[in-house]
Amino acid sequence: MGIRIGEKERLFSLETAHTLYQMKADETDVLLHLWYGPGTGTDMSYRIRTVNRGFCGNPYEARDRLDYSLDTLPQEYGTNGVGDFRSAALQALLPDGSGSTDWRYAGFRLLKGKEKPEGLPGLRGDGGTEGLEIRLEDKAAGLAAYLVYWVFEKQDVIARSVRVENRGSGDVILKKAASLCIDIPYGRKEVIHFHGRHAMERQAERLPLPQGGRLAFESRRGMSSHQSNPFVILCDPETTERQGECMGCMLMYSGNHLEEISVDQTGSIRLASGIHPEGFSWRLGPGESFQTPEAILSYSAEGLNALSRNYHRLIREEVLPPRWRGVRKPVLVNSWEACYFDFDAEKLLRLARSAKELGIEMLVLDDGWFGRRDDDTTSLGDWRCNEGKLGCGLKELSERIHALGLCFGLWFEPEMVSPDSDLYRNHPDWALTDPGRDPMVSRHQLVLDMGRAEVQDYLFEVMSRILKDARIEYVKWDFNRSVANCYSRALPENRQGEAPHRFMLGTYRLLERLTEAFPDLMIEGCSGGGGRFDAGILYYCPQIWCSDNTDAVERLEIQRGTSYGYPVCAMGAHVSACPNHQTGRTVPFDTRGIVAQAGTFGYELNPDRLSAEEKKTVKAQIAAFHRNETLIAGGDYYRLDETEGDYTAWMFVSPEKDEALVTAAATHVRANGPFPWVRLQGLDPGRTYRREDTGETMTGAALMYGGISFPQFSGDYPAAQVRFTAQRPSESGRG
Ligand code: GLA
Repeated sequence: MGIRIGEKERLFSLETAHTLYQMKADETDVLLHLWYGPGTGTDMSYRIRTVNRGFCGNPYEARDRLDYSLDTLPQEYGTNGVGDFRSAALQALLPDGSGSTDWRYAGFRLLKGKEKPEGLPGLRGDGGTEGLEIRLEDKAAGLAAYLVYWVFEKQDVIARSVRVENRGSGDVILKKAASLCIDIPYGRKEVIHFHGRHAMERQAERLPLPQGGRLAFESRRGMSSHQSNPFVILCDPETTERQGECMGCMLMYSGNHLEEISVDQTGSIRLASGIHPEGFSWRLGPGESFQTPEAILSYSAEGLNALSRNYHRLIREEVLPPRWRGVRKPVLVNSWEACYFDFDAEKLLRLARSAKELGIEMLVLDDGWFGRRDDDTTSLGDWRCNEGKLGCGLKELSERIHALGLCFGLWFEPEMVSPDSDLYRNHPDWALTDPGRDPMVSRHQLVLDMGRAEVQDYLFEVMSRILKDARIEYVKWDFNRSVANCYSRALPENRQGEAPHRFMLGTYRLLERLTEAFPDLMIEGCSGGGGRFDAGILYYCPQIWCSDNTDAVERLEIQRGTSYGYPVCAMGAHVSACPNHQTGRTVPFDTRGIVAQAGTFGYELNPDRLSAEEKKTVKAQIAAFHRNETLIAGGDYYRLDETEGDYTAWMFVSPEKDEALVTAAATHVRANGPFPWVRLQGLDPGRTYRREDTGETMTGAALMYGGISFPQFSGDYPAAQVRFTAQRPSESGRG
């Protein structure tokens, strides 16, 4: 395992527990992509066959080999303008006005000890990783591209990024720099992507690939977006949750992104992912470099659930802040749906008192505590407590909440500014706006120019002051609009194409500074729900509010879609009041609890308004959550595949395979319907398990192949949960 290099054949093999990633520099110094799939123990270059395809030109040095064409060879980082007519990995405007780029292998270097891409979040490498840097050069362009690969053996992951260096004597304008490009020469594939909208994020859709065409999944909103998550899966048409080949590609970035999947004339597939080239350009002076975000590749031959588990393990172990790894998080109540903008300290304390009685452990004060903010038209940027509204300061409020035995959390929306704010009145140039044009306003707000050091400093100071003054264990970090008019008053005219990426670098810098200064502060990411649910944000925030849609029935789809790439321990999920504020639907309290337990678990309602019966249910839900929380947060998660019908089901299995929690939630109840039936996964086939609700004992093999059924569902949106415990050998003898 690890990295093997055949220096004579210039063959590079990156091996993880179950996979092999292989490439080779050929006789013309073109870096060919040979293989990404199960370990084969062999040089896969035998698969490269060439033939003169017509209208596929030849590189000058191979001009007499009519079968040798960049247009048909599988490559590691596609060229531009020199005979590969597929989508280019990199585009640049060179000092002489030309724009071709032609990469040739120029050497390699082994790397030890994972480094993060400069200025960006990256996989941590806490488990110790080996890396490989391959240098490609384009001598005529005066450019070098350093392709960096990190091998995460245990999780079956390869992380890729690229650093582009200007080695010439004039300025180069980079117009596109994909983090990765990978060519798959044979086989039919389908793509699963995650689209959506505000309050309906990460809807999984599976599509065939268009022959000779191109699919693009993208965001140009200055954020990873509700509309298209920076994660795609390529799989065989026959792949299911339980079996078949699939590979994922996740970009660790929270800004504009593009995932391109194209199929060429012979059916060869090219996948590329990176910062969206539209609206992007970066001026590289002589000697300067540009660093792309990291892209995370994983492969599984055992179906989509296994692929998801690779990502879950990786994100838990190598992305999330180590401070929160395996740590029990408080069950919280959030003030947003409980009282929106309408609160004062007394009302919050009443809410806190009732919450405490129910077993809730933290009160989060959402939007509306600062400036003159009683609605969403004002005060973003003026991060000073509105003592007139609250009736006291944050310090006093927090002390009183702590005196009740609860932790205290606070909402911020750092990157935003209201035109009606002191911050905007004092620093109008700190907002992103185009010269001579009225800016687009969204939710009455503008976006700050986060690339500017003085904006980062202001936010760091004003937030630090509050976090030092009052005892605050948790911050909800919101981001409530798309970025438009992305023009920075601090950049010269010829560098404006840098503004969107500088915005992201500035946001990451601020997150970095705050998490370093307040190591015990837990930050929950948020963006109008889950508009920035990506691995970049997860590097700083151990959890992200999954969606503003708290309807448990809709959450089934949102959380299921999210689970393809992201672990349950990172999905913010709360029980809210019914009729639900987004859909008007009424769902039983039990079902709401069960669905929120497939997430970080909390409440988004006013506990004062609950009936005595509901209060009893809340207490029971919290007790059940505590009993299962290690299993939920750290166990293996499986989508149970028989579910695309009237009910959705999922399960958790402990790493030791001795405990399992299986849940089914009905979205459609039918008269005289069949028993809801699921086949379990991930158990030890030879062990005996006891089903807690019925006391029955069955082998893991029976549960996984014979499955279990739930009682017939009745009523609106019922759900059921069953727990299994493995018997000790002495007990199973009696089973
Ligand atoms: C966003 C969040 C909500 C809430 C509001 C406050 O929409 O997703 O949870 O915090 O902002 O304005």
